[in-house]
Amino acid sequence: MDYSFFNNSVLVLFSSFCKNNTLHHSLIKGKIVVCTTETVLDNRREKSTFVRKGGGVGMILIDPIAKDVGFQFVIPATLIGQNEAEQLQAYITTDKNPVAIIYPTTTVLNSKPAPKMAVFSSMGLNVIPPDIIKPDIAAPGVNILAAWSPVATETTAERSVDYNIISGTSMSCPHISAIAAIVKSRHPSWSPSAIKSAIMTTATVQDNNHSLILRDPFGSQTTPIDYGSGHVNPVAALDPGLVYDFNSLDIIDFLCSNGADPAKLKNLTGEPLTCKNPPTPSYDLNYPSIGIASMNGSVSVNRTVTYYGTGPTTYLAYVENPEGVKKSSPLRDLCSRNHMKK
Ligand SMILES: *[C@@H]1O[C@H](CO)[C@@H](O)[C@H](O)[C@H]1NC(C)=O
Ligand SMILES: *[C@@H]1O[C@H](CO)[C@@H](O)[C@H](O)[C@H]1NC(C)=O
Ligand SMILES: *[C@@H]1O[C@H](CO)[C@@H](O)[C@H](O)[C@H]1NC(C)=O
Ligand SMILES: *[C@@H]1O[C@H](CO)[C@@H](O)[C@H](O)[C@H]1NC(C)=O
Ligand SMILES: *[C@@H]1O[C@H](CO)[C@@H](O)[C@H](O)[C@H]1NC(C)=O
Repeated sequence: MDYSFFNNSVLVLFSSFCKNNTLHHSLIKGKIVVCTTETVLDNRREKSTFVRKGGGVGMILIDPIAKDVGFQFVIPATLIGQNEAEQLQAYITTDKNPVAIIYPTTTVLNSKPAPKMAVFSSMGLNVIPPDIIKPDIAAPGVNILAAWSPVATETTAERSVDYNIISGTSMSCPHISAIAAIVKSRHPSWSPSAIKSAIMTTATVQDNNHSLILRDPFGSQTTPIDYGSGHVNPVAALDPGLVYDFNSLDIIDFLCSNGADPAKLKNLTGEPLTCKNPPTPSYDLNYPSIGIASMNGSVSVNRTVTYYGTGPTTYLAYVENPEGVKKSSPLRDLCSRNHMKK
């Protein structure tokens, strides 16, 4: 980009974002440079290459949104939040000879509160079938250490590494996949939906400070649209007690209530199938969470649970009403209609 037609204050702004060709060698040579993120989508690694190109030896990036997410930089670098940035600015502007040291990363154990929803974690609502709450589940996905191809690429700051630390759905997905495999190895006869149910119904919505899981970066309040059924608990998933199961015919019913017709079903299954008339309501799919996208008046929702524990047990149903919703009849009456199988 050619910056020559911008005035001086704009240029200063561009160099505070550590953009390409805005950092003067005479000013930053041998120094640790303070940079600011411009937008959440900034290429943070690239800023470190521009600092290095200008002769800088380190970078402090003011990045309140992503301050807890690890990135690979080409020079020693660290991310700081807004409070630290204010302290830093005060120090830089008052001290005649400000100095900085970037220490190696250390491990902090038992930090509180944890877990938290990552700043970049996708949220519902579900835009396709709105009666199915999304997400289903939350799992670790920030700064995950895992094996990595030794081919040096831009992603690893041009270094060849056997392990790397990255963040995203691509990191939480293998956690859930492995937990599904563990549940399957313990319960080989369980269907995919039973395994999903076990994982979802045993998840927790509480953090280690006994409050509802919060969302990064500012600790904002969350709802099931952030975490689904909650943060996964692998050990509890092995013994969920009750399971919400469904099979391929239930999926057909669900597709029928979401606009599938016999021609579409034939395309999908290769078999001639017809939809039930009247169709089973979408919210009656025996899913391990209950979502009703539009409600006017009252609605009855049907779920069937199967007991997979050992020995006789008594379960009591308990409902926490979403705000603005009343339960019209005691849930126990509903359950005594013989829907709870043992
Ligand atoms: C930075 O600017 C230089 C010179 O203008 C150019 O050659 C280079 O491709 C730019 N780098 C990036 C990553 O934009
Ligand atoms: C833990 O919870 C208490 C009570 O809600 C709150 O005052 C405190 O700030 C929380 N601690 C952390 C580290 O979030
Ligand atoms: C069935 O699949 C074919 C090939 O993908 C497609 O062209 C056709 O529109 C589909 N029919 C229906 C009813 O979805
Ligand atoms: C809700 O149902 C009532 C009675 O059936 C109807 O008069 C009203 O228009 C409905 N409201 C909405 C938002 O659909
Ligand atoms: C609820 O589901 C069960 C099992 O699929 C079924 O037998 C029953 O008729 C359903 N009840 C209602 C009210 O839909």
